[in-house]
Amino acid sequence: MSGLDHIDGILQEALTAIEGARSPQELEAVDVKYLGRRGAITAVLKGIKDLPPESRKVVGAAANQARLRLEEALISARQKFEGVKQDSPFDYTLPGIKQRQGSLHPITRVIDRICQSFYGMGFSIARGPDIENDYYNFEALNFPPDHPARDMQDTFYLDGGLLLRTHTTPVQIRVLESNKPPVKVITPGKTYRNEAISTRSYCVFHQVDGFLVDEGITMGDLKGVLVAFCRDFYGEGLKLRFRPSFFPFTEPSAEVDISCLLCKGKGCQLCKYEGWLEILGCGMIDPNVMRNVGYDSEKYTGYAFGMGVERIALLKYRITDIRLLYENDIRFIRQFH
Ligand code: DAH
Repeated sequence: MSGLDHIDGILQEALTAIEGARSPQELEAVDVKYLGRRGAITAVLKGIKDLPPESRKVVGAAANQARLRLEEALISARQKFEGVKQDSPFDYTLPGIKQRQGSLHPITRVIDRICQSFYGMGFSIARGPDIENDYYNFEALNFPPDHPARDMQDTFYLDGGLLLRTHTTPVQIRVLESNKPPVKVITPGKTYRNEAISTRSYCVFHQVDGFLVDEGITMGDLKGVLVAFCRDFYGEGLKLRFRPSFFPFTEPSAEVDISCLLCKGKGCQLCKYEGWLEILGCGMIDPNVMRNVGYDSEKYTGYAFGMGVERIALLKYRITDIRLLYENDIRFIRQFH
């Protein structure tokens, strides 16, 4: 009987160990300890031949039964571990997926910064449609019917007398038409021109126009606001120069240059050794435009300006090829945090 108690003691101890095992390795250790070549159950089985003949059968049967119980318990315990591996949707041993932080496109950053600067000077922001008609894009802006900008080579024409706007200036007409002075607005947006794609030009680009219409507005107001903008955007100590120019919708018209951001006016490759960088067009709104939007051009005057966002972004970030802005190569975009 004591032999049977001994076997039962080993069996209970082994079953408890199997239940408590927390890894396949711990199960293997239990297997070796009880069923291995020098295991406790193996020892009992080996000792059977030395027992008195009358006990051999009973002890042998009990020992074999204990061995079978343990083998079954080990098999189902091993399955439990394998089950965890196969059924769980998570493999905790895999390295995690790195979460990358997104960043704003350099064009978005430049537009936001321009808007922020003018917003601080009391301008509101307005937007217009990318698909325009001839009236808003050209006629109301005082473009004569034979103006070269209307040429198929420059303008993407659509069916039904529509076109893709070639500048954001038509938003000026839409805003003035539906508001009464004083109107003080900037109009960021996409523009389209049928140009050959190169390092310097692309068929889609962005502009920001701005304008103020009220009684008694002069060129002095225009200069004041542009100097304030340029110093805010590009930094203090910057020099500006207003050069006479021509736009159909402003009279007089000017182009604004700033002293070169790199060489500060001494002359370098960026400014083509001129010391100046052209950054925007501007002028006093032409009386014809005032009449087109139903304003009394004797009573109201206004200024307007327009700038190309890509050019500013290229200068600001020293990018040498405009196409990089539209390829959406993540290695490029990621640099603008
Ligand atoms: N629309 C002009 C262009 O695309 C830029 C421009 C010049 C806008 C003078 C204006 C302005 O509002 O007053 O080249």
